[in-house]
Amino acid sequence: MNNAKILAGKRGIVFGVANNKSIAWACAQMCAEQGAELAFNFLGDAQEKRVRELVKDLPNAIVMPCDVTKDEQIEAFYTEIQKQWDMVDFIIHSVAFTEKENLKDKFMVVTRESFASTMDISAYSLLAVTRAALPLMKKGGSVITMSYYGAEKVVPRYNVMGVAKAALESCAKYLAYDLGEIGIRVNAISAGPIRTLSSSAIPGIKEMLENSQKHSPLKRNVTTEDVARSALYLLSDLGSGVTGEVLHVDCGYNTLGMFSSVES
Ligand SMILES: NC(=O)c1ccc[n+]([C@@H]2O[C@H](COP(=O)([O-])OP(=O)(O)OC[C@H]3O[C@@H](n4cnc5c(N)ncnc54)[C@H](O)[C@@H]3O)[C@@H](O)[C@H]2O)c1
Repeated sequence: MNNAKILAGKRGIVFGVANNKSIAWACAQMCAEQGAELAFNFLGDAQEKRVRELVKDLPNAIVMPCDVTKDEQIEAFYTEIQKQWDMVDFIIHSVAFTEKENLKDKFMVVTRESFASTMDISAYSLLAVTRAALPLMKKGGSVITMSYYGAEKVVPRYNVMGVAKAALESCAKYLAYDLGEIGIRVNAISAGPIRTLSSSAIPGIKEMLENSQKHSPLKRNVTTEDVARSALYLLSDLGSGVTGEVLHVDCGYNTLGMFSSVES
């Protein structure tokens, strides 16, 4: 049997490690185990400390600031990468934000400013960080982003974030179309609910977790490791024929049309 590591010799960028519970961190660990060298962004001093501590055992990890809403920071981020690497093979985009107030009550209370900034951080940023990486993605590559079922169906209190995830999934498909001819694949993972720093801000997270555990075909919630395994498939040659796809990693929850009253 060939024991070669799946991402040996590959270099990837990871946007969105906030702490050890982050989906991006599970994906990064999986990629590092499979031989990839990684670069990470951070947002602010507290996050920088946490990310530097987490990556201290990863060989040659690069850690740099990058607020994905700031074009000049994205440019500076890649300029620095280019000084150290001559190529990038993959990008993990695992970034989203909206104000807490938007997740409490009705969707329609969201202000124009907050709607725009949610879209900017949570959807447009995929395009911004991918486009800026193109000079380094000379031999094609793979880009993934993280979505949620609230993009497709109304999930009470997910509100404007659901609208942003719908835009994000659509951005992934249009990017896949634009970049297919240069060998870059772009896919989204639609993950089931997981307790992380961001999801703790969603007042409905408890109910989302309970629902998914009770009703999903696998009768459990997904873990960040479940997501990371699927990420590895999409980021590596294992997913070589897959682009513009939204892969549900949700224990099958999205397949249900109705919850049965006779379920255990
Ligand atoms: N946790 C879940 O239940 C769940 C389910 C499906 C999808 N997702 C998605 O997965 C992704 C990662 O979320 P997570 O749950 O791991 O939470 P997390 O809090 O660990 O990660 C969110 C990251 O987004 C980053 N971020 C926010 N604004 C930014 C900005 N302006 N510039 C740069 N980075 C910024 C944060 O710093 C943080 O690292 C998000 O897109 C989230 O919507 C999460």
